[in-house]
Amino acid sequence: MSYLSADGPGGIDARRARLKEDARIGLCAPVKSIPSAWFYDDRGSGLFDEITRLSEYYPTRTERAILECKAEDIVMVSGADTLVELGSGTSEKTRVLLDAMAAANVLERVVLFDIAEDVLRRAARDLHSLYDVEVEAVVGDLRADLDSLGGDGNRLWAFLGSTIGNFTREERGRMLVRFARAMSDGDSLLIGVDLIKDTARLIAAYDDSEGVTAEFNLNILNVLNKEMGGDFDVSKFSHRASWNESESRIEMRLRSLDAQVVSLPEVGLQVSLKGGEEILTEISTKFTADGFADELCDAGFDVAQRWFDEAHDFVVLLARPRGERHGTSGMRPADVPFAVH
Ligand code: SAH
Ligand code: AVI
Repeated sequence: MSYLSADGPGGIDARRARLKEDARIGLCAPVKSIPSAWFYDDRGSGLFDEITRLSEYYPTRTERAILECKAEDIVMVSGADTLVELGSGTSEKTRVLLDAMAAANVLERVVLFDIAEDVLRRAARDLHSLYDVEVEAVVGDLRADLDSLGGDGNRLWAFLGSTIGNFTREERGRMLVRFARAMSDGDSLLIGVDLIKDTARLIAAYDDSEGVTAEFNLNILNVLNKEMGGDFDVSKFSHRASWNESESRIEMRLRSLDAQVVSLPEVGLQVSLKGGEEILTEISTKFTADGFADELCDAGFDVAQRWFDEAHDFVVLLARPRGERHGTSGMRPADVPFAVH
């Protein structure tokens, strides 16, 4: 098993530098924000794991059901011998794909990529012992570091959980273009996205009755305290989740309950918050399947196949970097455009 940082030997420093820059930009802006990538320290990853098991939070179990039903087809259509997982987290659902690859006797290598180092290390160790294959774990930021994901073979790049929805349209566009550039001939992208649905269901998924999502949201302040020497008093904030119709996304915020001044010495910042002022901590975009296929197309992919659950709550798409980018034109003959189920 190998373990490396996408930032090279200065990995931890690079992480700190990025968090510092994100906090400085986000908390100095007229409308304050912190990128959702910083939710995932060890506790945040554990809380996300709890969220995935809540009755209100349907995406994980729905995507898993699609994968369980279609893993064999996915493995066959992709022709992959290597699985590269982006934003891998615990890699729990990924085991469905790995089981199918192992059963087809094609699994040679696994590469996991995530910003959360502890959870990444554990997932890599678990997969190595379960599948007895080479597992490479790369710590990095999807917004910047994909260059270290070189390698041979036919790779299936999996970006699951609708994590792509946690980025703005511009960020998604840049990220998908970067994926396409990093991919070789024969590679495919398997990407899961959450679909637009009844607003009440969406709000419940991001404001659950047990308060786990609230804890998850508030934990980002603990991360800033721990890593940037901050003195956020978590009890002085409350969790908010709302639906932004025009942007087609859930937005999570932390509302300051009183006027307060918070120090972030490592960032060199004193942050003044008015009573009721909010910090945007996450966007979670909900898509139409056609709308997201268009985003893939704009970024240089051809969609080969897409699979829905019965209720059309979630879709998993398989796409390939477009032929002309690799010197051939149009879709490959094996592609089946827009086959459903
Ligand atoms: N893929 C898993 C985990 C989703 S949680 C699933 O489908 O359940 C989102 C994961 O993406 C977390 O593990 C988080 O650490 C990672 N992540 C979020 N933003 C990231 C970024 N900018 N760069 C790298 N990883 C990121
Ligand atoms: C990881 N990501 C896709 C989750 C989502 O649904 O946007 C994170 C999350 N936020 C609150 N609950 C879950």
